[in-house]
Amino acid sequence: MVIEDVEALLREKRVFEPSVSFKEQANIKNEDVYKKASEDLESFWAENAEKLHWYKKWDKVLEWNLPYAKWFLNGKINACYNCVDRHIKEKGNKAAIIWEGELGETRVLTYIDLYREVNKFANVLRSIGVTRNDVVTIYMPMIPELVIAMLACARIGVPHSVVFSGFSASALQVRINDAGSKFLITVDGYYRRGNVVNAKDTVDEALKNTNVEKVIVYKRVGNQINLVENRDLWWHELMKDVPLYCEPVQADSEDLLFIMYTSGTTGKPKGVMHTTGGYMVGVNTTTRYIFDIKDNDIFWCTADIGWITGHSYIVYGPLSNCATILMYEGAPDYPSFDRFWEIIEKYKVTIFYTAPTAIRTFMKWGDEWVKKHDLSSLRLLGTVGEPINPDVWVWYYNTIGNGKCPIVDTWWQTETGMVLITPLPGITKLKPGSATFPFPGIVADVYDDNGNPMPPNEKGNLVIKTPWPSMLRGLYKDPERYVETYWSRYKDAYLTGDGAAKDEDGYFWLMGRMDDVLKVSGHRIGTMEVESAIVSHEKVAEAAVVGMPHEIKGESIFAYVILKEGIQPSKELEDDIKEHVKKTMGPIARPDNIVFVSDLPKTRSGKIMRRILRSLLTGGELGDVTTLRDPSIVDELKEKVKEKLGKT
Ligand code: PRX
Repeated sequence: MVIEDVEALLREKRVFEPSVSFKEQANIKNEDVYKKASEDLESFWAENAEKLHWYKKWDKVLEWNLPYAKWFLNGKINACYNCVDRHIKEKGNKAAIIWEGELGETRVLTYIDLYREVNKFANVLRSIGVTRNDVVTIYMPMIPELVIAMLACARIGVPHSVVFSGFSASALQVRINDAGSKFLITVDGYYRRGNVVNAKDTVDEALKNTNVEKVIVYKRVGNQINLVENRDLWWHELMKDVPLYCEPVQADSEDLLFIMYTSGTTGKPKGVMHTTGGYMVGVNTTTRYIFDIKDNDIFWCTADIGWITGHSYIVYGPLSNCATILMYEGAPDYPSFDRFWEIIEKYKVTIFYTAPTAIRTFMKWGDEWVKKHDLSSLRLLGTVGEPINPDVWVWYYNTIGNGKCPIVDTWWQTETGMVLITPLPGITKLKPGSATFPFPGIVADVYDDNGNPMPPNEKGNLVIKTPWPSMLRGLYKDPERYVETYWSRYKDAYLTGDGAAKDEDGYFWLMGRMDDVLKVSGHRIGTMEVESAIVSHEKVAEAAVVGMPHEIKGESIFAYVILKEGIQPSKELEDDIKEHVKKTMGPIARPDNIVFVSDLPKTRSGKIMRRILRSLLTGGELGDVTTLRDPSIVDELKEKVKEKLGKT
């Protein structure tokens, strides 16, 4: 969702304070924490780093050679040890993962169970030849073995690259090849809305053109699959005869923990790199401060582990705090619209963290689904991924939180690794629709295009001016792109790509992306990636993709397509192109609308004016069109859009 009407948003004047009872029990009660962190950033982070286990303490907290940061220099640490081993002595029987399968099965893994499985699987990885020079790609749905696989990699100091299981074969292939993976971990299949998804077929397709040598397959469904000789191995067979203990590697703070691919403004996904020490400190600290995590909480973050939210706030943040996480395999509407509320009631979930697009969907389904269940166990709510409309916020607060749970609207990115703008739930007075303030130690601002701070209540570019421990260390095998993307617009600040305004009380209001990145149902999708997928269709000559405001999804994908000479537009072709994109990238990238046009609004130098393409969809001002090579094209597009949207 890109918010243009800044004034309307800032007219929101409702304020919600934390209740006395919440405040009293909160992990962070005192506002001094902001002052302390801003006065001495390094001590603030060093104190928080002490909460983790280090084999060897760091010599120096921070080395900041803008734009390159190193944190906890020469410290030796293991992420898996911090998430598992150090809890087993006193909390070994505590549930680490409570898992609900889509069919209603329950599995509970205690910390001892997790310890055993992770140790064994780390030995399995070693036994098939995985070394610290590898990157292991993981393509799995939401099952505990995904967490086990990640932690096993971390245990032996091998970076993982988890690819969202909804991605198509070719999207998986691109990511495997960029990471140079020789090893892949996957499943036979999984359940989605009652159907079996044959993940292994997708994998086989993806592997046609990669250097993958070994594939480990976990049997989730028991569907018929094809095992390639000398390449594919069953998880359960490998796990039969391995030793129960695997010594964790004493990784350097700055050793790579994982790569996470995300979309940018070019066609190629970026491999965001996160290193061990700083990332762990960032996510461990924010989980305590923002999610107020306590020993008896049941923490449910509904994100998929295939995205950064799942990495940071299902796996590494909560487990390093010895929390109990809930993991759900399936869809929110299967078998009925109250599946989430049923799960909250069944497991007595206390902290619930989801995305605005999901909340808007729940609102649409109606309060009656919620009212059927006792949600009184909830004590804290969170939201992430896109701006939340104030009225949706208030619905979430009243209908799900029963007016007693603070909402943490957390702003962050794959690149930031941890939440950077957020309330602290025991302290912050909340304004619906605002992510409120930068986390302690973070300095954020709103700049105009020349790097001057914007006056209050005016929209500009959100920037971050201080380094933080879990900031990305670069883009995999693409050092120049790191500088160019984040650090070239302004000399002194990290460019987030987001629009924002700061009000007179210092609250930040996020307004969506300022670049060619879309947020469709909270998923981050580059317009260029979709365009490349469309033009790879044999009948397409050219395409331009923009986001169109959508009530539920926030944004939907709208494509303007020029067909090759002599090809006639038709409904069938439109559907075929949509399916082609789905096959090339995955269902999340399937355009909602396609219009066939004879040309695109281009400047004389050939640049497509996306501003015009967007305005045509929203009815906004078209602005100056005289710089176009052919201004008359605008009328044609206007007509086509009218015809299309009138019909849909
Ligand atoms: O546009 C912002 C939006 O999500 C982008 C980052 O997407 P991704 O890397 O996929 O990570 C999503 C989960 C951390 C941001 O640039 N975004 C994220 N959180 C918020 C948000 N926009 C508004 N409010 C938020 N709370």
